[in-house]
Amino acid sequence: MRQPYIAGNWKMYKTVSEATALAGALVAAVGRETGRKVMIAPPFTALHAVREVLKGSKIVLGAQNACAELEGAHTGEISLRMLRDAGVTVVILGHSERRHVYGETDALVNRKVKLALAEGFEIILCVGETLDERQKGVTEKVVEGQTRGGLEGVAERDMGRVTIAYEPVWAIGTGKNATPQDADAVHSFIRTVISQMDGAEAAQALTIQYGGSVKPDNVRDLMKMENIDGALVGGASLKPETFLPIVQFDR
Ligand code: PGA
Repeated sequence: MRQPYIAGNWKMYKTVSEATALAGALVAAVGRETGRKVMIAPPFTALHAVREVLKGSKIVLGAQNACAELEGAHTGEISLRMLRDAGVTVVILGHSERRHVYGETDALVNRKVKLALAEGFEIILCVGETLDERQKGVTEKVVEGQTRGGLEGVAERDMGRVTIAYEPVWAIGTGKNATPQDADAVHSFIRTVISQMDGAEAAQALTIQYGGSVKPDNVRDLMKMENIDGALVGGASLKPETFLPIVQFDR
């Protein structure tokens, strides 16, 4: 049985005081949650402060991105070493906003993935097609390319620290979520790709999150699907009123 995994991607929202207030509310409500894994990824500037709030709770601290180098002349970048120092254990990589707004390629995402795994982090690798790609009928081709490209050279023994988030770009922040059936079909396809790459056991064990307009009123139907193991939540993770019912969805 794969444990449900709910993650909040706070994107470029929350000052330090706003972030610690939100983290505090989550700790009070779900900090002892054991049946499911809960992660929050605040902006870099709030990581240290949020780490203090999470201490002693089961909520895991994540980062939204990382540099593909450990140190050096990379103005404006944040390294995995700095993230570890801030208490981060999980890194989101290849988010569609990184790919489509900041031009990250599969090759760059792959370098980040390999470095993060080598440095002992867990990762969430995001994959997903644009509306244009969906309409052209190339969803599987795109998702397969991003999955294989992102995980190229990753050893099977490291797959236990890999989560994949399927986030159709057209569903992110738009209020249009994929139907549970459409999302499940892509999740099942991703499992087939992983099975070809790493074997059936790794594919069965893999946690695959859905992301894209996950809300309190659609989480339950999504989580009922056989291949949907969790959610990567953006907008609805910014308020306890919307994030807590998602974390506490009942099956
Ligand atoms: P959304 O974002 O929940 O606001 O659609 C999801 C994401 O980008 O991870």
